[in-house]
Amino acid sequence: VGQGLLTPILAESGLARRHDGTLALGEVALSHIADAVGTPTFVYDAAGIRMRYRTLTDALASLPARICYAVKANGNLAVLRLLADLGAGADIVSGGELLRALTAGFPPERIVFSGVGKSDEELLAALAAGIGCINVESISELQRLVALTELHQADAVVGLRINPDVVAGAHPYITTGKGGLKFGVPADQVASCLALLDEAPRLRLGSLAMHLGSQLLDPAPFERGVDRLIDALAQVREAGFAPDTLDLGGGFGVRYRDEKPPTIEEWIAPVRARLAESGCMVQVEPGRYLVANAGVLLTRVLHRKHSGGREIAIVDAGLNDLLRPALYGAWHAIVPVEAPEGAEGPVDVVGPVCESGDFLALERSLPPVRSGQLLAVLGAGAYGFTMSSNYNARARAAEVLVDGGRWAVVRPRERLADLFRGEVRDPFGPEAP
Ligand code: LLP
Repeated sequence: VGQGLLTPILAESGLARRHDGTLALGEVALSHIADAVGTPTFVYDAAGIRMRYRTLTDALASLPARICYAVKANGNLAVLRLLADLGAGADIVSGGELLRALTAGFPPERIVFSGVGKSDEELLAALAAGIGCINVESISELQRLVALTELHQADAVVGLRINPDVVAGAHPYITTGKGGLKFGVPADQVASCLALLDEAPRLRLGSLAMHLGSQLLDPAPFERGVDRLIDALAQVREAGFAPDTLDLGGGFGVRYRDEKPPTIEEWIAPVRARLAESGCMVQVEPGRYLVANAGVLLTRVLHRKHSGGREIAIVDAGLNDLLRPALYGAWHAIVPVEAPEGAEGPVDVVGPVCESGDFLALERSLPPVRSGQLLAVLGAGAYGFTMSSNYNARARAAEVLVDGGRWAVVRPRERLADLFRGEVRDPFGPEAP
């Protein structure tokens, strides 16, 4: 994919080249942000998030539906607040995400707690907050929740996340709906869960849930998953339960390169009638769809070198900032922020971290890049900052939100002293705590 072929991805990311050739997000020049805040910096586009949220609500308009944004994709409080204000709920997977969601202003009743391994502490925090639904993923977890609600005399609405045993064709690390994986309750254990619920007056079965995986591109397995969910609905109704929600999970794929992801309309159309007939509220939990292409990572070229016949550009963002290329072999478009000049050639864009797996792109066709040059890594709005780390004692990047002509730092770059806050240098010495 040469730079010329990136036009659709640039447009989808809300990016445009100005007359002078520099790249702007909304009405803000990316170079201006980089000069003011430094690099690496994640920049998010409020307009892009709003636009996608609207597309999603429009596609779901004919159904009673609820959108619970998957906080794990991008948990910055400003992003969460924006989505909460639009009316979204939140899909969380930890006590940390619960605190983020509550702090951002999501009403507790619009929060759903997913995840295979919730601790007692996390479950109790969810009960105390009175969140809308706790999705349980195993008999063991359900038993634990029964015990905790009885001990603390708390009531809760639970969802049963079913493992629909569907092959969705996602990357193996982000496939979740297949039998034998850790996710969801296998069909043959649903009856045992219902038996437990029968004896648990403090729990109400409010929802049946599934989540097939992430970056899904094919509606056919999704349709099969929905069928399995509706089969399960018949089974639980037969047993005397009346859940009011079908939670279809997230996973709606986006375009990073030349993928042709179905539109939301194309995901929903084949299952719309069946969902409407179910009489249930339809819930979706998109993360990536809402934010991936509403974010870029700004990084500066530190050095150029030539080695073993390869051109290498060493940039100031590493796998600690954007793990996706290293972990999944993910492809992210990279574009020069200033007007590109000169013939394109293959270059490895690598980070400063001491690992050979620390690359953002290999053999990428780019115009000549030189030290000091600013690059934008696209599709970095989802699973970018949230998967970042302090490896190599590197401070985590700054985060900026652009809204039309305005922009603001929504998380300052970490300070180096933050890196060891709370550590004890001399645990057994005379000044030991
Ligand atoms: N609901 C549940 C229960 C999930 O486990 C996930 C994602 C979502 C919703 C949101 O999925 P999305 O709409 O964002 O695809 N780090 C990986 C993605 C991991 C997704 C994990 N679960 C990546 O960078 O591709």
